[in-house]
Amino acid sequence: EGLEQCPFRGTRVGGALGTAPQIDDWWPNRLPVELLHQDQPAANPLSDESYKELFNKIDFPQLKQDIKALLVDSQDWWPADYANYGPQMIRMAWHSAGTYRIADGRGGAGQAMQRFAPINSWWDNGNTDKSRRLLWPIKKKYGASLSWADLIVLTGNCALEIMNFPTFGFGGGRRDAWEPDRSTYWGPEFWGGKPVDQVPASANHKGHPDEMVNNNLRWVGQPKDAHYDLENPLAATHQALIYVNPEGPANNGDPQDSAREIRESFARMAMGDEETVALIAGGHAFGKSHGMVAPEKIGAAPEAAPIHAQGFGWHNPVGSGNGVNTMTNGIEGSWTQHPTQWDNSYLENLLTFDWKKVESPAGSTQWTPIDPTAPKTPDAHVAGQLNNLMMMTSDIALKVDPEYRKICEKFLSDFDYFTDAFSRAWYKLTHRDMGPKERYLGPEVPADDMIWQDPRPDRDYELIDEADIATLKQHILNSGLTVSALVSAAWSAASVYRHSDKRGGANGARISLEPQNSWELNRPDELNRVLQTLRGIQSDFVSSQSGNKRVSLADLIVLGGCVAVEKAAHDAGVAVSVPFTPGRVDTTLELTDVESFNWLKPVSDGFKNYHNDNVGYRVPPERIFLDRAQLLTLTAPEWTVLVGGLRVLDQNYDYSKHGVFTDRPGQLTNDFFQVLTSMDYVWFPQDPQEMFFNIRDRKSGDVKYTATRCDLIFGSNAQLRNIAEVYGADDAQERFVHDFVAAWNKVMMLDRYDVKDE
Ligand code: HEM
Repeated sequence: EGLEQCPFRGTRVGGALGTAPQIDDWWPNRLPVELLHQDQPAANPLSDESYKELFNKIDFPQLKQDIKALLVDSQDWWPADYANYGPQMIRMAWHSAGTYRIADGRGGAGQAMQRFAPINSWWDNGNTDKSRRLLWPIKKKYGASLSWADLIVLTGNCALEIMNFPTFGFGGGRRDAWEPDRSTYWGPEFWGGKPVDQVPASANHKGHPDEMVNNNLRWVGQPKDAHYDLENPLAATHQALIYVNPEGPANNGDPQDSAREIRESFARMAMGDEETVALIAGGHAFGKSHGMVAPEKIGAAPEAAPIHAQGFGWHNPVGSGNGVNTMTNGIEGSWTQHPTQWDNSYLENLLTFDWKKVESPAGSTQWTPIDPTAPKTPDAHVAGQLNNLMMMTSDIALKVDPEYRKICEKFLSDFDYFTDAFSRAWYKLTHRDMGPKERYLGPEVPADDMIWQDPRPDRDYELIDEADIATLKQHILNSGLTVSALVSAAWSAASVYRHSDKRGGANGARISLEPQNSWELNRPDELNRVLQTLRGIQSDFVSSQSGNKRVSLADLIVLGGCVAVEKAAHDAGVAVSVPFTPGRVDTTLELTDVESFNWLKPVSDGFKNYHNDNVGYRVPPERIFLDRAQLLTLTAPEWTVLVGGLRVLDQNYDYSKHGVFTDRPGQLTNDFFQVLTSMDYVWFPQDPQEMFFNIRDRKSGDVKYTATRCDLIFGSNAQLRNIAEVYGADDAQERFVHDFVAAWNKVMMLDRYDVKDE
């Protein structure tokens, strides 16, 4: 009773900061613009530090020695299996990285999101809370110099190394997040076939269907549509969380079905068949699965656990709750005779023996060798006890799928080849989301360029100087290219960047290569004319040099944008100089993974009023637009000012006039905002879906302009409208131009890790 008293107003229930219902409960379809302002420096107690400087001062060999010593120093509060924490740390690192998805580049090990909800409370991540807490002495010793994100991956490497596996390398440089990420959509969460919001609050164990179930009750009681983000528009069916159900889809125990699910899930992580087999067979050479206690007995996940649990979840009430009684996933046992040693016994066991289904002590479906003379595996805690080998349905999948099986056989017959394949796949898995190699820190960064790093050649020529830039600008201005065409080329090149995995961007001039140069939304015919002209300017410049000076096409594309924006501002009566930082290089098709770049193609892009409706979205275009703005790290004012500017500069992909609220396109005016905020107009949907609109003169009724949802959202959403009012006001033209230029330059520089201080 007492607890239900509101501390502030004496009424029952509620009133404390953040108590439901909140605005999102009342208006679930409102555009959550505040998603653009997450993880601000204000949330980061170390925002005054340069992580690069601190990390580079670490005595790296000492750090690795410290981690390796810790891995074999068993603690009574969580005794190590086989007196070696290595395997559980490999699983922690794999789960940290394995959330990556290529469709939007989100997830991955880069920010140690495993520390926060919902990831810290997924059933898949059971007992990784223990793994991270075991590492606290290392984190404590190195403090601000070592992020959790780097520590988690490095510990995975150290664990592999102490078990005699040769790792490919390690790059540091991951900056921790300091709050949960609300912009990543992890898929609908189901329990026992029901959406989680229909699940009783007492339920906290694993349900069944083909969604990985998490233990987290965050969604319970929330309206179903209150998810803060969008369906991944490219995902084929459903979202898997980290990987797939080890017992097969919907616990059906069917290895064939499991293989299909594995292939789909790992493809979304950007892994091919060989990498997939290398990772699973490599990972399961180590450690064991834990399933000694019925899941119903296990306590709430960390995010829902009582305060005295101090961040730990999944309380296990049996015995000490660990060691011989450990319960994590529910399957029990080890794959090999030597769970703390790198060898080929996983694949030997998988392929040599026939396996039959049995049930674990926790009631999960798993497999055991039919042959009673098959080797046994030592118990993780009881000296002298030997147990049966174990395989999961998802392991048997590698044997029954014909393609996977061929790879298994190759790996079995050539252990060195397998070792190399796992080593490379592990490196890719754990570094995939870090972006260009310039970001990698520390002494163990491999010299090799990997194709998944989207490599660019090093610059081996002299950079252009201020005088050259002035000359080149004059050449571009005189070339006859329009403002709209130059802006489109530069914007298309730069705005394909996504901050999630730091891919894309103008550096490299990949806009001139397949696949980007033929994407419909890049206005390919016009783009290729622009590129041809700029190449002419480039070769004239190079042949006029006596020394080793060159200008890259990538720099020229961006410089073309600068010239065009300056001209557009000048024509609108504002003198402005657009910053330009040279140093971009041109890469080649050989250094471009075309298939992987196709994932960067926006399926919907409000900046260009591009919306490909064949995809079958479950969310309106403006939500995908918000998502694009978030991937570009734009603030709400930056997003707004860019849209207002791009519209009057005629940037629609199909040259349509939607949102081009001006009589003088090509001039950098604030006309877009003036029209948007003016009561001289009324707005009418053109179609029942309300995708397009007519803007009529209120008095005459004449259609003056047309618009899309991605235009009108800036007048409809309260937060965006207030910004639009700033730029539509009578005192705003100068501010508009300067803010546009600043936001423009930010986008042009997003991928410049060669010169940026992170
Ligand atoms: C353990 C499933 C892929 C490394 C486990 C466990 C499950 C599982 C259920 C037991 C957790 C527990 O109860 O303690 C899967 C599935 C995979 C997959 C379904 C994909 C189809 C991988 C990959 C790696 C990996 C790619 C690493 C490269 C490990 C390790 C352990 C483990 C080292 C042992 C952990 C320990 O000893 O505590 N896996 N896994 N797994 N997994 Fe995987």
